[in-house]
Amino acid sequence: MDTISLNTVRGSPVYKTLINYKVDLFWIFIASAIINILMLTPMVYMLQIFDRVFISQNVATLISISMVIIYLYVVTSVSEYIRSQFIIRLGLKIDRKLNKRLFFAAFKNKLDSNIADPLSYLDDLLLIRQWMTGPAVFAIFDCPWVPLYVLVMYILHPYLGLLSVILIILLVILGWVTAKTMGMSADIMMEEEKESNKFLYNKLRNSEIINVFGLAGKFRDPWLKTKSLFYLNFVDREKKAGKFYHFAKQFRLFTASLALALGAVLVMYNELTLAAMIAAALLMQRTVAPIDNLTMVWSNWQSVNRAFQRINELLTTYDIQNDYINYHRNEADVNELSVLSVENLKVESDEKTILNDINLKVFSKEVVVIVGPTGSGKTTLSKVLAGIWNKYDGKVTYDQRDIRDFGNDDFKSNLGYLPQSVMLFAGTVSENICSMGKPDAERVIKVCKLIGIHDFILRLPQGYDTKLAPGSASFSGGERQRLGLARAIYHNPKVLILDEPNSSLDQYGEANLANVLRVYRSENRIVIVISHRKSIFTVADRVIEMKDGEVQHISPITEYLETVASKTKTPRSQTDET
Ligand SMILES: Nc1ncnc2c1ncn2[C@@H]1O[C@H](COP(=O)(O)OP(=O)(O)OP(=O)(O)O)[C@@H](O)[C@H]1O
Ligand SMILES: [Mg+2]
Repeated sequence: MDTISLNTVRGSPVYKTLINYKVDLFWIFIASAIINILMLTPMVYMLQIFDRVFISQNVATLISISMVIIYLYVVTSVSEYIRSQFIIRLGLKIDRKLNKRLFFAAFKNKLDSNIADPLSYLDDLLLIRQWMTGPAVFAIFDCPWVPLYVLVMYILHPYLGLLSVILIILLVILGWVTAKTMGMSADIMMEEEKESNKFLYNKLRNSEIINVFGLAGKFRDPWLKTKSLFYLNFVDREKKAGKFYHFAKQFRLFTASLALALGAVLVMYNELTLAAMIAAALLMQRTVAPIDNLTMVWSNWQSVNRAFQRINELLTTYDIQNDYINYHRNEADVNELSVLSVENLKVESDEKTILNDINLKVFSKEVVVIVGPTGSGKTTLSKVLAGIWNKYDGKVTYDQRDIRDFGNDDFKSNLGYLPQSVMLFAGTVSENICSMGKPDAERVIKVCKLIGIHDFILRLPQGYDTKLAPGSASFSGGERQRLGLARAIYHNPKVLILDEPNSSLDQYGEANLANVLRVYRSENRIVIVISHRKSIFTVADRVIEMKDGEVQHISPITEYLETVASKTKTPRSQTDET
């Protein structure tokens, strides 16, 4: 059986996606712990009835014990429900996340190689999802509790403990053999069916020509022949695998009887109570149950493993990020570019997750626009990128340097940030523009001219030396925004991050803003703009769409606009009016 090593698994995109959902896995673990511990309930109940109720002959005791047990049953079923919900949700999340990446990767692969059937990757993903959210999850989360049951058996009587260990070993061996026989047959069959379907698919693709020439019958017969061969093989293999499968199943049921028999012997030698004997039989069934899931995990492992490898290979070669690098740039160019990179970014506040699993790269010489509904996390993301929000998991680097290692001067020279609401300080206009340092008059004027506020400032009572009152109530929203922009670009930053820079700007202001962005792009800088206004798209290269704290899509501007246009029936988008 060809297997993949643990390191390969760890480095694989599928695994990396899975560990992003640690919280879900944690809750599945907790629910599994509760379920597995409370599975001892029927046994405890029975022991209580024998030891307390029969001895005391007290109905009240029976009722009170029964109440506790009913409560425990309720807790178990609630935990089962929660666990199944988490497992379903986890499967869907993984599916959604990987499907998004697979779609582009498969597409690109098809363009490059023209060999692989792009849809087969989606089948692979479905197979992995079904495997992971089916028996595999139960096997992974239930098997660790098997020793607990063995321990309880041991406490009942050491011989019972020993018997359960022997039976588990036997069942594992039997499970392995069954899995190997079933797995192999399932695998070969799947390949054969795929081949047979491919044959039909290829013919159907040319159905018009086949029809015109009246060739349909000629193709039907060979296809039916491959199918009937397939069914014959199927029956043959099922016969072989079925023998093992049913024997293993019966043997598992038989373990309870074995425990009962050993218990009976021990009772006869006064080594065990009658209650403990029945408890042992009940418990034995439960002890060996997870092994059943293990057999299922093994029997599908070969095909799942192959699907894993295919997807990993595809995503490693044609990852979405690489895909976007190559979208409109060639590799040689990319090496020359500066890059702001975000890996597995997660931001949580006390109550909720604000940003989850953000992965993106922004390059110099491009303007990236971030869009998304209110509360989708755009501002939070911009604060992380600007280095003013430090409490996060994941990594943000600028040219491979972690921005957490940046000192004040690094920030000044590298990062320019315009917050969503601009605060002006008590001081002169110039001082405000140079962030309350010593203003360089020439630079201040240059910046203001670029933004188009030079004339406006000259009309103020003392021009650039006009003192601003704290809170700057005397300025309009648009004026504050433009002074904020002047402040953001004063130090000529290599990365410019603007949070809704145009929400209060008029047409003139917007045109000037677009101009600034063009200049910055041409100067090999990174520009990130959060905005809903349509005008910004005239200078955008890529669009990052956010929703509920996650990146939904990253697309080149042309693709984004096409999608928007196809969604909007009226030519005028509502975003225009915001
Ligand atoms: N300091 C904070 N502490 C806790 N939660 C916060 C904090 N700042 C923002 N949030 C929450 O994070 C979520 C995302 O907020 P954010 O300001 O990033 O959204 P946004 O996409 O910029 O929205 P808008 O379009 O309205 O500006 C919101 O639900 C908000 O309540
Ligand atoms: Mg915001």
